[in-house]
Amino acid sequence: MSRSAHPAGPRHADVLPEGHYSAPPTDLNALDSKVWAETVTRDTDGVLTVGGIDVKRLAEEFGTPAYFLDEEDFRARARSWRTAFGDDADVFYAGKAFLSRAVVRWLHEEGLNLDVCSGGELATALSAGMPAERIAFHGNNKSTDEIRRAVEAGVGRIVLDSFQEIVRVAHIAQELGTRQRVQIRITVGVEAHTHEFIATAHEDQKFGIPLAGGQAAEAVRRALTLDGLELIGIHSHIGSQIFDMSGFEVAAHRVVGLLRDIRDEHGVELPEIDLGGGLGIAYTSDDDPREPHEIAKALTEIVTRECDAARLATPRISVEPGRAIVGPTAFTLYEVGTVKPLDGLRTYVSVDGGMSDNIRTALYDAEYSVALASRVSEAEPMLCRVVGKHCESGDIVVKDAFLPGDLAPGDLIAVPATGAYCRSMASNYNHVLRPPVVAVRDGEARVIVRRETEEDLLRLDVG
Ligand code: LLP
Repeated sequence: MSRSAHPAGPRHADVLPEGHYSAPPTDLNALDSKVWAETVTRDTDGVLTVGGIDVKRLAEEFGTPAYFLDEEDFRARARSWRTAFGDDADVFYAGKAFLSRAVVRWLHEEGLNLDVCSGGELATALSAGMPAERIAFHGNNKSTDEIRRAVEAGVGRIVLDSFQEIVRVAHIAQELGTRQRVQIRITVGVEAHTHEFIATAHEDQKFGIPLAGGQAAEAVRRALTLDGLELIGIHSHIGSQIFDMSGFEVAAHRVVGLLRDIRDEHGVELPEIDLGGGLGIAYTSDDDPREPHEIAKALTEIVTRECDAARLATPRISVEPGRAIVGPTAFTLYEVGTVKPLDGLRTYVSVDGGMSDNIRTALYDAEYSVALASRVSEAEPMLCRVVGKHCESGDIVVKDAFLPGDLAPGDLIAVPATGAYCRSMASNYNHVLRPPVVAVRDGEARVIVRRETEEDLLRLDVG
């Protein structure tokens, strides 16, 4: 659309600058269900509500910025992954997207397993009662202490990421007088269509053991000779925020090819394959994610077809969605502090958080949506950049989005789809305190991760 076709807000020059935005939505007050959690709606006064509670009340009780998580939506998404894959497959929620004890309990209740990638995540999972055998332990450089704790706890699988780790885990398991169930993570050499920093299956990166050049086959050879290990399968995770299924297809083809080679060389049919996580979600109305049942159908068909061709029994499949479960279930609520129109450019809207509660925009050029939450407005749209309170010009939460032209300090605005990789990647930059996560369900709100305090900061400062 031509730029002059954008309606000019009251604080705008007539011509809008180049940017990532598309045309302003016809109704700024409308909520696109693609990007908002299931129970989010507006009440009769036009105030955004979640789980039956309006954001003005939530802001009053819990302060801003804060993440509000729709518990019912989280459970429903977890359930739909579980149901889509059925009893012949396992769904491991990737805890790195967002982990807390409440989340662990919900996952347990909904029949999901859990992928952890550090001692801290393992401790959280165990302390909330996730049975160890339903935990998978990941990471490209697990410490020997972490490995020991995982083996001692009896985790269901450790995903081995290097030749050194094969030996380390075998040694620790033997020392502890046990055999550890393991998978080997391989890189299948596909270029996932996503941001460079979150693509993980091409060869030139740190994760996994390359299939190319026979390295993965050599890793299998070694793992099969070590008494401390029970090799149960092969693992591949191609990247994150992916919409195109073709990368998974290539990955499945190559993983099954390796299973066939292992059968031919060792006479062993490994019983499991894990195709990782990485399914994309809608951050803006332009994104069109797939439903879990479509993904399950596609992956199961690919693996079955490949196995039939290789005359292998179809192994048990597991997947590790993180973002696709928790991402859409939460939004971040901010209070507007300043509104600064820059003639001929855009209006800078400063909020009370920023890159410390959402680093994704700065780190991956991620796109987000935003809506005025504390009221509706019929004012003309104005092109805005939502920025934080940090001492960086890259401290951007939403790069280009339209908000009503009468936006003012004190208004509450909400950024949807911040459930994944926002609180879990939050920092204390500028000694800004990390926001709480509040779970809302059936008219009740409860803090599941409390707001950080200045005492928390000072407790660590022992100089
Ligand atoms: N499994 C493994 C082995 C992984 O490394 C990951 C993510 C997942 C599963 C879950 O991927 P998901 O379904 O959530 O896409 N911080 C980045 C994402 C990093 C993903 C790291 N690994 C972001 O904010 O986009």
